[in-house]
Amino acid sequence: MNRDKAQAIFERATKVIPYGVNSNFRYWGPDETPVMSKAEGPYIWDADGNRYVDYRLGWGPIILGHSYPAVVERVAEAIKHGTVFAATTELEVQVAERIVRMVPGVDMVRFANSGTEATMHALRLARAHTNREKFIKFEGQYHGMYDYALFSTAGSNLGVIGSRRNPLPQQMSSGIPRGIREYVITLPFNDFEMVEKTVKEQWWDLAAIMVEPVLGNVAGIEPEPGFLEHLRTLCDEYGVVLIMDEVKTGFRVANGGAQEVYGVLPDIATYAKGLGNGFPVAAFGGKKEVMSTLVPGQVSHGGTYTANTVSMAAADAVLELLETQPILETIARRGQRLKSGLDEILSDAGVPHIMTGLPAMQGFIIGDRPVKELRDLKYHNDGLYETLLMNLFELGVWAEADAREPWFLCYDHDDAIIDETLNKFEDAVKKTVKG
Ligand SMILES: Cc1ncc(COP(=O)(O)O)c(C=O)c1O
Repeated sequence: MNRDKAQAIFERATKVIPYGVNSNFRYWGPDETPVMSKAEGPYIWDADGNRYVDYRLGWGPIILGHSYPAVVERVAEAIKHGTVFAATTELEVQVAERIVRMVPGVDMVRFANSGTEATMHALRLARAHTNREKFIKFEGQYHGMYDYALFSTAGSNLGVIGSRRNPLPQQMSSGIPRGIREYVITLPFNDFEMVEKTVKEQWWDLAAIMVEPVLGNVAGIEPEPGFLEHLRTLCDEYGVVLIMDEVKTGFRVANGGAQEVYGVLPDIATYAKGLGNGFPVAAFGGKKEVMSTLVPGQVSHGGTYTANTVSMAAADAVLELLETQPILETIARRGQRLKSGLDEILSDAGVPHIMTGLPAMQGFIIGDRPVKELRDLKYHNDGLYETLLMNLFELGVWAEADAREPWFLCYDHDDAIIDETLNKFEDAVKKTVKG
């Protein structure tokens, strides 16, 4: 595949941007880092004009399709009348009202600009609400780029996170003050006993359990039946705030997010990606009792760009479509067809695998052991997965070549696109298995 233009742009980039990327996750290496030029509907084009069916979707925000006309037009019209006012607008009230109507556990909401900001604010609010300082997060979960959250995320070295019975929080970056580790407790996902033991021993200093209801950064692994209920019960019993990080699942797996799918309501939920279909917008919201702790002058939340016109017009257009049309149901139906098709092709080729995730953000692990938590990836064949996904990439279908990142679907992935994907996947599997 020709990548002459991409490489020339990338080489310019490395002179003015460290490693030529604006997120470390985008760096693939000196000769293979992708450079893209445009995206429309279900497709994305690289700088050399190669077109791919896109299942990365910017790591999840695109829920309708790239450059979805109804959203782009709403934003274009709205920004003619100003973008930041440092004051409330009726548009943001309307978006908040939509969220409160759509999500069962949200009585009140505040806006932010990124998932990182939303979970950071949720954590501060939980601490202020409980007057406690520590929090539990689960291994493999990613909540954003700030210091408290950067422990034992999906990229953890499995050799150093300790045993399930004695997990060791792995700091994911230099530059985080040593003392921060004192505030973070990392536990294996889906381990009923460990979380119960930890809450019972440390509840007096535990402000929150922060959980991605589905492991959106580890192949979309789902909670075991009863696990989210277990967290809810423990939080109720010990006065701990349950934060569901729905940055990936929100406005994607159902209008009410994972809390609707699994029927467990958090105290605070966080949103970003799907809410804006690619425009930067985020929110955190929840029970009135908890959200009311956010008192001006007492608990900080703010930002020059919070609820700016671009973000609010995009969210308003997205939510209006989700509220009035069966968009997420359609994505789920097509996603299920994709999932069953991938499953069948892998089985027919004799590739041992475990299908994971919900239809709108799904994945598979190559191996034959069930996967319930991050450590179980030890038995996954990383190399074979990467070869298969790179073969698929060369055929014009782009999902992340790392099984941790789910395949994301959008409304523009219609039935014909799913068929095309399955045909190409079959070819890629044949090529991979033959070697
Ligand atoms: C579950 C989850 N929470 C938070 C974030 C951080 O969001 P952002 O990249 O918008 O800061 C991410 C990003 O992928 C995420 O997957």
